Amino acid sequence: MTEVRFDGKTALVTGGGSGIGAALCRALAAAGAVVVCTDLDGDAASRVAADLPGARAARLDVTDADAVQRAVEEVECPDLLFNNAGIVFGGETTDLTPDQWNQIIDVNVRGVVHGISAAYPRMVARGSGHIINVASLAGLLPSGLLTSYVMTKHAIVGLSLALRSEAAAHGVGVTVVCPGAVDTPILDKGSVGRIVARDLFLQGSQKPYDVDRLAGEVLRAVAADRAMVVTPRSGRMAWRFGRAAPLMLNRAATRFVAQQRARAARRSPR
Ligand SMILES: NC(=O)c1ccc[n+]([C@@H]2O[C@H](COP(=O)([O-])OP(=O)(O)OC[C@H]3O[C@@H](n4cnc5c(N)ncnc54)[C@H](O)[C@@H]3O)[C@@H](O)[C@H]2O)c1
Repeated sequence: MTEVRFDGKTALVTGGGSGIGAALCRALAAAGAVVVCTDLDGDAASRVAADLPGARAARLDVTDADAVQRAVEEVECPDLLFNNAGIVFGGETTDLTPDQWNQIIDVNVRGVVHGISAAYPRMVARGSGHIINVASLAGLLPSGLLTSYVMTKHAIVGLSLALRSEAAAHGVGVTVVCPGAVDTPILDKGSVGRIVARDLFLQGSQKPYDVDRLAGEVLRAVAADRAMVVTPRSGRMAWRFGRAAPLMLNRAATRFVAQQRARAARRSPR
């Protein structure tokens, strides 16, 4: 497969200290880009950047609109902006607190909006650039027990596709990434109550997707200016099935919720 090149392009990655963001930083550096790896965890961002030629690191909280503006200004607006930082809460919606709802909206939705409002006007003025928003397969499917996450990721899919239709005439690309379960630390975060977030991400499949393979797919999609990356194949099939037969998909989603509840009850009976 021909490898894509981004020689001399500046790429700013949010949430680059771990998982998909770190893999994107590695793939971008290997493709010749000048990487700015940012993360709420500044030390993690520094560790990732330290291994990459010419890369820089910075602590950046995407919920802080001014800080995101400054990060974008510091690099005179990146050629490629990866709005990747994200969090998850998996569990019964009855167990979610108002603070958790606000937190996930702040990071997963406002965080992306902050990146777009900092970089997009500058990209339009320059007549070039590409914004890559990392959503999820959960942005395309009705995954119960992940309601807050599903809501935020559906918002990012809608935002990305709408923005893409505006941006094209200005020479700016927009790509939204919708992976199923990927092998990263997020799988073991965000469990609420007795439900285990990892089980919800995996949706019955045994093995999460390889993170470096995903990063390669994303970079090829950006080079080809594709609107969406929906992966792996089983995820694309579920998405297509849901569009063709939404009621059947909803019944399958309801069965999945029942299975997860039964599993949680077996694991830790009340
Ligand atoms: N791993 C999966 O199965 C999967 C599947 C679909 C989509 N995604 C999405 O991919 C993105 C990356 O997730 P990941 O799997 O690499 O998770 P991860 O937990 O490994 O990495 C997420 C990174 O985001 C950072 N972060 C959290 N809050 C932040 C904030 N306020 N500001 C800046 N950085 C912040 C964390 O410090 C962490 O380094 C997320 O948007 C996630 O929703 C992941």
